[in-house]
Amino acid sequence: MTLPYPQSIRLAELAVELQSCRIEDLFARETERSAACTIEAAGLRLDYSRNLASAEVLAELLSMAACAGLDELRGALFDGSELNFTERRAASHTLLRAASAPSGLAEEYNAVSNCLRKMAGWVERVHTGQHTGWTGKPIRSVVNLGIGGSDLGPRMVCQALTPYRFEDLEVRFCANIDPAELAARLCGLDPDTTLFIVCSKTLRTEETLANAGAARDWLLAGGCSAGALGQHMLAVSSNLEAAEKLGIPAANVLPLWDWVGGRYSLWSGIGWSIAFALGNQRFRELLAGAEAMDRHFATAPPSENMPVLLSLLEIWQVNFLGARNYVIVPYSHQLRRLPAFLQQLTMESNGKRVDRDGQTVPYATAPALWGEEGSNSQHSFHQWLHQGSSPCPVDFILPLHSDARSSDRGRRLVANCLAQAQALMTGRGEVQARDSLLAAGVDTAEAERLAPHLLIPGNRSSNIISFDRLDPARLGALLALYEHRTCVSAQLWRINCFDQYGVELGKVLSDAIYRAMQEGGGSFDPATDALLWRQNA
Ligand code: F6P
Repeated sequence: MTLPYPQSIRLAELAVELQSCRIEDLFARETERSAACTIEAAGLRLDYSRNLASAEVLAELLSMAACAGLDELRGALFDGSELNFTERRAASHTLLRAASAPSGLAEEYNAVSNCLRKMAGWVERVHTGQHTGWTGKPIRSVVNLGIGGSDLGPRMVCQALTPYRFEDLEVRFCANIDPAELAARLCGLDPDTTLFIVCSKTLRTEETLANAGAARDWLLAGGCSAGALGQHMLAVSSNLEAAEKLGIPAANVLPLWDWVGGRYSLWSGIGWSIAFALGNQRFRELLAGAEAMDRHFATAPPSENMPVLLSLLEIWQVNFLGARNYVIVPYSHQLRRLPAFLQQLTMESNGKRVDRDGQTVPYATAPALWGEEGSNSQHSFHQWLHQGSSPCPVDFILPLHSDARSSDRGRRLVANCLAQAQALMTGRGEVQARDSLLAAGVDTAEAERLAPHLLIPGNRSSNIISFDRLDPARLGALLALYEHRTCVSAQLWRINCFDQYGVELGKVLSDAIYRAMQEGGGSFDPATDALLWRQNA
């Protein structure tokens, strides 16, 4: 079953027709295809010409988006409506980077501005050495304690913008409750020059609370008095009471609001570590880049709207061409954590199967998203991309002219990215495969035998998102692009991309199992009991 819009019928027919068409044929048929399928916004360039999608497909998809309420979605996102319809909340993460107060949201805008001011003040005092640790030495390291949305975004951004880092301060991240991670992150740090940020929207997250407790113990064991802990611990949360219970003074706490989803929150106080790592000016540039993408998303016509097109192509791939995976390959070592960030953004947001009327949907929603930095990925899963049995769309992310690009290896990296997109599209026919074997001196019988194995079907879709430099503004725009793409896809799938009820059950069960480990007793299912017995033995 496919999507509940009238355009689905024609789109399904087109999907069948296109099975016998090559992407190269589309270029021949649509003479301006390359230019027509390239758009620019907020410093990013999207080339979607290498998709098995004709101009007619795009027209139908755009008409379907209108039918699905694209304009209503764009309005609701920016005007504070209750877009998060299960939790009955607004989803106003764009307000975190708004350049001025949107009408009707002055109070929220002022709260954000105050928060950003407080955040910047702390960064300034730490960077200038006005704020010191308990021995009077300047702070040299910041450790972010958070998980999921309170970790993935800030961690990825800090890594991506390494060249912009403030030199005298090292920022580290610890998410996992596995004691090995905190031990590794604290290795080589001095308690009297270390500042922790307890980052948690709810401050109920087991991993973060446990790590905050361990960090506190580490400070105390290192000689910090209980009274001086405030010099070494900050918190960001919408649960100010819980922050107080952790013993973190109110002056050290940044607020968060229920209208910001965890995975959409790196622009808020959750991004404090980013501001510490890069400085206030760079953090503002990151926000400005995202805001430029917001403006584009809000105002550009759908046919020239980057997040809309990226979403519609996802819908086309998933609901009409049957893709169940989506791969992201950044050709940039600095962007190597981007797939992990996008995994939470898209899969926690759109990994749902019940629509806004409470009905189980009869069509596919979010595909599995995964990826790896190129060119490493070429030596891992590209075999599957080129010759595997399930065609899978790929987004290549390509910063063009960073310092590395002016080097020979940098140019080779770009060449590899372009070659992969080309190979996915063109593939290699059997005749071509046989000829190349013969040219290499293989005898005819052997060439016949091997040719089917060398055949690469091609006709596999990809997008290239390129930009001239990986800087804070372009990164901000790139992340906002995927945020909006996620919301548009949710709108077409009629699901809520802002809740995450699916992760709750495991948390509750793990609590009960933990109690059974501590106190003994407790009986679960036979498989759980068997392993529990082993752990306790
Ligand atoms: O378990 C999922 C989740 O709720 C995510 O949505 C969130 O980003 C993460 O946990 C961390 O939550 P918090 O910021 O409240 O600690």
